[in-house]
Amino acid sequence: MRKKTSARVERILSLLDPKLRAFDLCSDLGLIGIEALMQDKVKHVTFVEIKPHLIEETKKRMTTLSLTERASFVQADVLQYSFPEEASNFIIAGVGTNLIISFLSKARQRPGDVIVCHTHQNIARFEHKLSELSWIPTGIFDVEVGNRVERIWFFRP
Ligand SMILES: C[S@@+](CC[C@H](N)C(=O)[O-])C[C@H]1O[C@@H](n2cnc3c(N)ncnc32)[C@H](O)[C@@H]1O
Repeated sequence: MRKKTSARVERILSLLDPKLRAFDLCSDLGLIGIEALMQDKVKHVTFVEIKPHLIEETKKRMTTLSLTERASFVQADVLQYSFPEEASNFIIAGVGTNLIISFLSKARQRPGDVIVCHTHQNIARFEHKLSELSWIPTGIFDVEVGNRVERIWFFRP
């Protein structure tokens, strides 16, 4: 039986635009992107992960699930990677505040893109840093993760 998807992942998936391709940034073993494909939330996911063995493991999982035709794999630092021009869903989740802030600082605010950010670290610290950038969240959502509350920020420039 398939494991129940967490409230965190369900909320992230609910924010995606199904018309756009998706980038699962810092994908680890691809949990979020795989779930997005399995639930048909998007047609295509590019997994971007800095550690080569995690990208290889994600590829294997996708083969087992017969999802490879709907996926691309990039072993790269998200802060160095050049994203395509077309509007897309970008998910950067489960990472530290500094990485998300660096990502947003480098990213252009393009109409049509969807950017979903989640950190397991301190919410106030993240929001303080965010207030120094020109990114204004379109939505903010709290989710329970174990006995903690974590936050998801949704941007649709
Ligand atoms: C805790 S996992 C998050 C997994 C997944 N995004 C989630 O929310 O379930 C963090 C992942 O980010 C990757 N990572 C950290 N810095 C990165 C960077 N600069 N570029 C790409 N991946 C990075 C790590 O290797 C690790 O696999």
